[in-house]
Amino acid sequence: MKMWSGRFRQPLDPKFDEWQRSFTFDARLLPFEIAASSAHARALKSAGVLTSDELISILEGLDQLGKKLAASPELVNNADAEDVHHFVEQQLVALIGETGYKLHSGRSRNEQIATDLRLYVREAIGRLRTDLAELCAVLIECAEHSGNSAMPVYTHLQRAEPVLVAHWLLAYFEMFIRDTERLADCLKRANVCPLGSGAAAGATLPLDRRSLASELGFDSITANSIDATSDRDFVLEFVNALSLLGLHLSRWAEEMILFSSEEFGFVRLPESYSTGSSAMPQKKNPDLLELTRAKAGRVIGNATTLLITVKGLPLAYNKDLQETQEPLFDAVDTIESLLPVVTSWMRSAELNHERMQEAAQSGFMNAWAAATYLVKRGVPARLAHEAIGKAVQLCIAQNCELADLSLNQLRGFSPKFNQDFYDSINLNAVLAIHDVCGGTAPAKVKQALADARQKIESLREWVNAQP
Ligand code: ARG
Repeated sequence: MKMWSGRFRQPLDPKFDEWQRSFTFDARLLPFEIAASSAHARALKSAGVLTSDELISILEGLDQLGKKLAASPELVNNADAEDVHHFVEQQLVALIGETGYKLHSGRSRNEQIATDLRLYVREAIGRLRTDLAELCAVLIECAEHSGNSAMPVYTHLQRAEPVLVAHWLLAYFEMFIRDTERLADCLKRANVCPLGSGAAAGATLPLDRRSLASELGFDSITANSIDATSDRDFVLEFVNALSLLGLHLSRWAEEMILFSSEEFGFVRLPESYSTGSSAMPQKKNPDLLELTRAKAGRVIGNATTLLITVKGLPLAYNKDLQETQEPLFDAVDTIESLLPVVTSWMRSAELNHERMQEAAQSGFMNAWAAATYLVKRGVPARLAHEAIGKAVQLCIAQNCELADLSLNQLRGFSPKFNQDFYDSINLNAVLAIHDVCGGTAPAKVKQALADARQKIESLREWVNAQP
């Protein structure tokens, strides 16, 4: 039986009927639909709409359905249900008879889908934060293994200054930790219960909304039924947060691709996560990284689809909202499939510390430190910059580094140069002068690592506290 056939004299056109169904994709919401339906049944009993026997029968029916689906997930294939809500009703009635139809008392699919999606987003956020905690932990491990080894950091993709390899890895840690925070922030607004909002104006029966919410683990209840049944901000926010996460993964992948090229040689591609070429026998290709780089586009596409789908909708529920489901699911599936492989890749990739260290010592990356030497001796910064710039010019002409210039040559640019200049521009000295919080001086990076470990600990505590 359809959920709304009474008013219609003609059956639906079969092609349209098939085309407008959402069960093919919203079937994944079944566990949430069943949980929310059980809570609704209890609220109906408290409101005096169901007898105790009817409640027991409905709850047992829903429970049985959940078990049946767990044992035979293929049950959802070939079902003729319009959507996940219709499917549960059909199945419940098949299991317990007409009492099953009483479950729909005082509720609308508009609030049901809003509830199921919120429960889905909540669970997905839990899983994604768990996966991100793993990735962040691996980044910390790699940073710890890197000890005090150095590499160049680039601006404009030109060598800029030497940094600790650990400092570079912690930059990615920061990005991904922000992603976990953003997801936690999304959760605040997603974890609010719309049940009791009815179709648009509020439930037609005196349902205890707060106990409905707490039974389902929501933090609170939505404040306005019109908004609650038409709001998909929580989906948009979430998928936008996933776009940003995808973008971070993409930037990470791009840098790993670049650094694994022969030209850089900083990263050795793990064979178990690389592929060969069918034509060129020597090739080892970074396919995992390339796919990761590309997947961000797909998630950003989903976020854009969502924004455009909801953009012009009048209040309250519109069927357009059904179209918000697939981009949401696809974004979650995409990121969820990525995180574990990226984490494993990071764990297996080898950094070529020798090569990085070598690169950190050349290319005038100590020029700013050299200018700072003069600044500390009273030379105005602009003039110090000019003097070192000229010294660099001379080095380029002589094909040498600043440390190779004689004191005499240096004094040609400024009388303030002394013998101690040479010690102030060796790699260790250059690293050490960046001695501010968030800077690359070894002591500060050590502190940053300790802070990062602390953040992982809190994240893991949160993960373990999840139901
Ligand atoms: N499948 C629908 C959706 O995802 C459920 C809500 C249907 N509501 C309605 N008034 N037709 O949006």
